[in-house]
Amino acid sequence: MVKTVLCDMLGIDYPIIQAGMGPFSTVKLAAAVSNAGGLGTISIPYSTGPEEGAKIVKEHLHMVKKLTNKNFAVNTPIGSEKTSSKIVFETFEAIIDAVVEEKQSDPELKKRLVLYITSGGNPQKHVKKIKDAGFLHFHVVGSVYHAKKMEALGVDGVIASGYEMGGHTHLPDRAVHTFILVPAVAKAVKLPVVASGGICDGATFAAALALGAVGVQMGTRFIAAKECDFHENYKKFVVEAGEWSDIVVPSFIGPARCLDGDTEKGLIAAGQVSSRINEILSVKEIIENTVKEAEEIIQKLNKIFLKV
Ligand SMILES: Cc1cc2nc3c(=O)[nH]c(=O)nc-3n(C[C@H](O)[C@H](O)[C@H](O)COP(=O)(O)O)c2cc1C
Repeated sequence: MVKTVLCDMLGIDYPIIQAGMGPFSTVKLAAAVSNAGGLGTISIPYSTGPEEGAKIVKEHLHMVKKLTNKNFAVNTPIGSEKTSSKIVFETFEAIIDAVVEEKQSDPELKKRLVLYITSGGNPQKHVKKIKDAGFLHFHVVGSVYHAKKMEALGVDGVIASGYEMGGHTHLPDRAVHTFILVPAVAKAVKLPVVASGGICDGATFAAALALGAVGVQMGTRFIAAKECDFHENYKKFVVEAGEWSDIVVPSFIGPARCLDGDTEKGLIAAGQVSSRINEILSVKEIIENTVKEAEEIIQKLNKIFLKV
């Protein structure tokens, strides 16, 4: 069975993390992923500002706590004082403070809300607070440069997410794809590295491990899950997307990868991997198929090696 150091760190059966996908609710999805042996993640909620954002995220923490007795995670982007709008930046800060406070005051959260995933900005100001509250802290990076910076800041792990990822992605002139990014980051830092961007099945999971990752984070694959909180039409969009369905457009904290539907009405955030996702499955099927397929692939590769 595929077990890595990530399983021990996070207290999970399979080294698979469900990506934060705000500003949508991932309450049901997070609980389903944790119940199936991976690590579910609560996302930043849609809100009108700091006060409402903090209130909703606290509600989400308690909802997930009740839907699973396993460990889970929370994600908050950081944004930037220079490029994010003031209200967005302040809302993210209020959410981090609310989550930290809630973990410290609730015995169940203290035990089971094990990982804080920050992303999209510099988490320096928050590292001590997050770690003092008893979290493991991973930050999402898109370059070796940022991975090294995070190692120096003292985070516990990095999630190396390539340009093909869904939602907010790299600046086009600083884009690094997963196949280039993950092995480079794994070589450059001593921290555990989780691979993200374009992962959806056993082949991509096994490849991530071969590239030096200790686990994977999947976003788009989990949108097309039966238990996912997203609207059924959103799931359908992912399943029906093909090659060349995705585009990168300017968005509120940087460029974002979306599927190009009716551009009069809008775009929906999803990864390039949508073209490889053809079925809405249960979370348990997604996780178990991914692990089983990866094990078969690794065994097959071993056999090829032995014949030489
Ligand atoms: C709909 C959607 C919303 C997202 N929102 C967030 C978010 O709030 N915070 C974050 O760190 N990443 C966000 N992401 C990126 C994911 O966390 C993850 O890095 C990405 O989905 C991985 O690539 P994949 O979609 O190919 O699996 C989002 C992705 C999608 C598809």
